[in-house]
Amino acid sequence: MKLVLAISGASGVGLAQKFIEYLPQDIEPIELHVVISENAKTVSFHENDSIHSLQMHRDDNIAASVASGSYGVDATAVIPCSMNTLAKIACGIADNLVTRVAAVALKEQKKLLLAPREMPFSPIALENMHKLSTLGVVISPPVMGYYADIATLEDMERFIIGKWYDALGIRHNIFKRWE
Ligand SMILES: Cc1cc2nc3c(=O)[nH]c(=O)nc-3n(C[C@H](O)[C@H](O)[C@H](O)COP(=O)(O)O)c2cc1C
Repeated sequence: MKLVLAISGASGVGLAQKFIEYLPQDIEPIELHVVISENAKTVSFHENDSIHSLQMHRDDNIAASVASGSYGVDATAVIPCSMNTLAKIACGIADNLVTRVAAVALKEQKKLLLAPREMPFSPIALENMHKLSTLGVVISPPVMGYYADIATLEDMERFIIGKWYDALGIRHNIFKRWE
């Protein structure tokens, strides 16, 4: 599976790093590509986080492999998704690699998941989410759930990330399922 994780400048860039760390490689091989926006780097500095991955692409590298539909990416996630990046994706703007990979997923009709992070959401953000949802995009903000034997912040993060894996078709065992 070819998977793209795009990271934009909303709070919670650390969740994207954990998304990378928890990614199960023993169930099926996953070719992961990570794109980080310049503003995500600023947020990660302020939130004392950093992003490490083997395959990192610069946000200004619009000639990267994953910028082309012909590369054959199966699934794309934007985690966290800023309101800025959400609005650009909803309008078809692709002026950096983060927004380009989302535009490619849309045009190729591949899985696209956005994890918008803002509180509260403005009517404009909700309109953008609604528009994208009707196009088949999975709108999946990091929302807490309390029913999966959650005792720590790490449990909660594993629950949220596991829900993202489920939506992207990534098999995993990172949280206890409801039985
Ligand atoms: C510490 C910090 C936290 C931020 N948190 C959010 C957030 O949760 N949601 C959001 O939409 N923007 C947030 N922003 C603002 C975005 O970074 C800003 O709108 C930026 O233009 C987004 O750029 P990008 O979409 O290219 O990554 C935050 C900025 C800073 C410095």
